[in-house]
Amino acid sequence: MPSSVDQSTPAHELAALVGPVEELAAPRYAGLARRIRDLVSAGQLPTGTRLPAERDLATALATSRVTIASAYRVLREEGWARTRHGSGTVTDSPGAPAGVGWFPHAGAGRIDLGHAAPEAAPQLAGAYAAALAQLPSLTGGHGYFHNGLPELRAAIAERFTARGLPTDPDQVVVTSGVGDASSLVAEALLEPGDRVLVAHPTYPGALRMVEGARGRLVPVAVDATRPDDLVDAAHLAARQSAPRLAYLEPDFANPTGARLSATGRRRLAATLWQQGVLTVVDEVSAELHLAGDPLPPYAAGVPDVATVTVGGLSKAVWGGLRIGWLRTDAALADRLGTVLVRRQLSVGVLDQLAATALVRDLDAVLDGRRRQLRDRRDVLLAELAARLPDWQVHPPAGGLSLWCALPPGLSSAALSAAAAAHGVLLAEGRAFGTGHAFDDRVRLPFTLPAADLRTAVEVLASLAGPLRTGAGPAVPVGAPTVV
Ligand SMILES: Cc1ncc(COP(=O)(O)O)c(C=O)c1O
Repeated sequence: MPSSVDQSTPAHELAALVGPVEELAAPRYAGLARRIRDLVSAGQLPTGTRLPAERDLATALATSRVTIASAYRVLREEGWARTRHGSGTVTDSPGAPAGVGWFPHAGAGRIDLGHAAPEAAPQLAGAYAAALAQLPSLTGGHGYFHNGLPELRAAIAERFTARGLPTDPDQVVVTSGVGDASSLVAEALLEPGDRVLVAHPTYPGALRMVEGARGRLVPVAVDATRPDDLVDAAHLAARQSAPRLAYLEPDFANPTGARLSATGRRRLAATLWQQGVLTVVDEVSAELHLAGDPLPPYAAGVPDVATVTVGGLSKAVWGGLRIGWLRTDAALADRLGTVLVRRQLSVGVLDQLAATALVRDLDAVLDGRRRQLRDRRDVLLAELAARLPDWQVHPPAGGLSLWCALPPGLSSAALSAAAAAHGVLLAEGRAFGTGHAFDDRVRLPFTLPAADLRTAVEVLASLAGPLRTGAGPAVPVGAPTVV
């Protein structure tokens, strides 16, 4: 939970969000508490926001101070608010992610479906061997490379250009992974209270990034069966809430697998650009298409300064490599690069040398990875169809995971808790949304070998029936870090 607070909601603003008190459920203090809880849950009052003084809110809502005090008390008792010495009452989330934490390492006997991240590609070891041989040519210098190793920046720029997005090396900054690249943008450009438009559900790292910068989420629903509906919904949300940033995954989004059509991405990029919203385009899965052809990069239809495209090698090659990048207008790239310099000076040279070889050889790496993921996806779909036919899945045309709708009465939190006790680690649905959304969903990555996927579905099938008794236990929301 955030440790500092300097974001507050003026009484008249909160009163406008709450609406007429006459329409609140009775008793009024409980109705008000519920309304505020829903606002926190929907991201409209982010965790850590200071609530107005009781007297001010009572005046703004034309109700008694006792009503406000009682509502705040209920919020505190239920974990939706806390008292901070000298800061009054601030919003909170019961069981919100602590910001750190990790699934227990999937040791012997455990099947880790909590991470949508495959094992290393076979080309990794060779790339490091070659990098080690090349290293002496660089060790005569100080080893710090502002914005990244020149040959790696050139290789990344070349790949963007070949994909239809003309790019110069000075538009590229090398980072320690994809998440690091997004965080640089948040760190450089977000002020506390700034709004950030996100697809909902979305990658939990994006939610943490906004929370870490004390931004406010503007969640926009996404449905993998009608992915282009996001275009009009995002247009409307941007008009209403004037976000500073949008964070989007146009290709095979985590966790839904949704992919914007060529027309949809062109329209969305144009509308957000026209409304002055800078879009962080997460391309972690962009080249993991398992059927059909790649689509033009999202950023291709708008000026370079309209987007920051972030990508990397974590899914194509290996998460342990920790190499990513961002691509934008050259001046903005340089500005973002200086944030990285302030934070960590530079990214490891040996990793960058290995990454250079891997980016140059990315077509071969991706061929193998796509073949592997396609086979595993099909195994997982077949196992689910055979053993859990009442789970609804929209088969994704790419990416790394299935977003499963559970049958009525089965809680994702309860299922995850029970599965963990049987050695199967899951990322429960609520980790991908704000508040308590998505307890009726679970993400199942198809990143493990077929035998593990079969065993995992067998375990889930043995648990799902007995668990369909209603609400699950109060399990902390998304406590582990999810990738
Ligand atoms: C959508 C998305 N973005 C970013 C990341 C993090 O990537 P990296 O490990 O390169 O920081 C992940 C990891 O799962 C992801 O799913």
